[in-house]
Amino acid sequence: MEKYINPWIKKIKQRPFNPQRPEGSVDLYIGENPYPPSPHVLKAIAAAAENINKYPDSAGDAVKEKLAAYTKANKEQIVIGNGSDDLIELMVKVFVKQKEKVIIPIPGYFSYWRSTKIRGGVPVFVNRKDNFELDIEKIVQADAKLVFIGSPNNPTGNIVSQEEIIEILEKMDCIIVVDECYFEFSQNTVIDLLQTYENLIVLRSLSKTFGLAGLRFGYAIAHPTLIQYFNKAIQMYPVNKLAQAAVISSLDDLEYLKANIQKICQEREVLTEKIGDLGFTVYPSETNFLLVRTEALNISGNEIVASLKSNNIFVQNIGLKPGLDAYYFKTAIGTKEENEILLKHLKQIVSNR
Ligand SMILES: Cc1ncc(COP(=O)(O)O)c(C=O)c1O
Repeated sequence: MEKYINPWIKKIKQRPFNPQRPEGSVDLYIGENPYPPSPHVLKAIAAAAENINKYPDSAGDAVKEKLAAYTKANKEQIVIGNGSDDLIELMVKVFVKQKEKVIIPIPGYFSYWRSTKIRGGVPVFVNRKDNFELDIEKIVQADAKLVFIGSPNNPTGNIVSQEEIIEILEKMDCIIVVDECYFEFSQNTVIDLLQTYENLIVLRSLSKTFGLAGLRFGYAIAHPTLIQYFNKAIQMYPVNKLAQAAVISSLDDLEYLKANIQKICQEREVLTEKIGDLGFTVYPSETNFLLVRTEALNISGNEIVASLKSNNIFVQNIGLKPGLDAYYFKTAIGTKEENEILLKHLKQIVSNR
């Protein structure tokens, strides 16, 4: 059997699937939006389901028109995919040959190196500085085909300034992807740099911000020539019919989006302060999750996660992930009620020490 498998696929470590989070648990594991999409969006999904015997629009023209208006880009600058994860892999497929290097600042989002390995490329990790800012000097020295930069970054929650992106673009001759998956939380973008830099790609997602994680939808904005190449390599039907209907309807309902984003950002500030008051270090976040350092309390991330899990609360143990030691965990910002339950149990863990 082994002889049939591509050698670079053999080298990939088995990634455990996400744990089951039982009904009724406080689920802050992946960093999902705690609120469902608006009733209009749910209606649009139900209406699209009535024609589910028909294939979706393979070009996604109506979706791209809406996105063009939303981003103030041209339709010809947009590619859509089955979540931004799908587009990360498409980018590696289009730009990276086997054994070519992809630069990934760490801590960073795991799909960057997973997709690189799936395509036979070589991920090159470049450590961020102690405060999680990019180490630009090291990044620009590396010889690579592609660089993935999260802004805001997962799991550190911080943005990269436009000046830093310009410096990288000026000093490197390769494709630079700025992943703005959390854009609506941060309101920080480098979209306007697309006019100057043909090698820049801005990647976005509707999973966390619009609460559409279950449908899978992401898009990227880039120079039309790059988009033409993406369209050569993309699947025939990259985005399903329900997702296309949901995205169109979501982009018609921006007031609902704004209200949810505002609630989550307010809760984020409360949670940041209260977790900090317990003695943890909480990193400032421009997303809907928090990275928490546990070292000051001498508890590992693993212990926190296990203890919360025994109380049916799910946060993520990201200790020992690339670029991190054992003293970290990551939690989504939930509803006010969920956040209060999390705080109550964190308090108990701290006082039981
Ligand atoms: C930085 C970043 N990019 C991309 C993604 C993938 O998002 P999706 O595939 O749901 O669009 C995530 C998901 O956690 C992320 O954190």
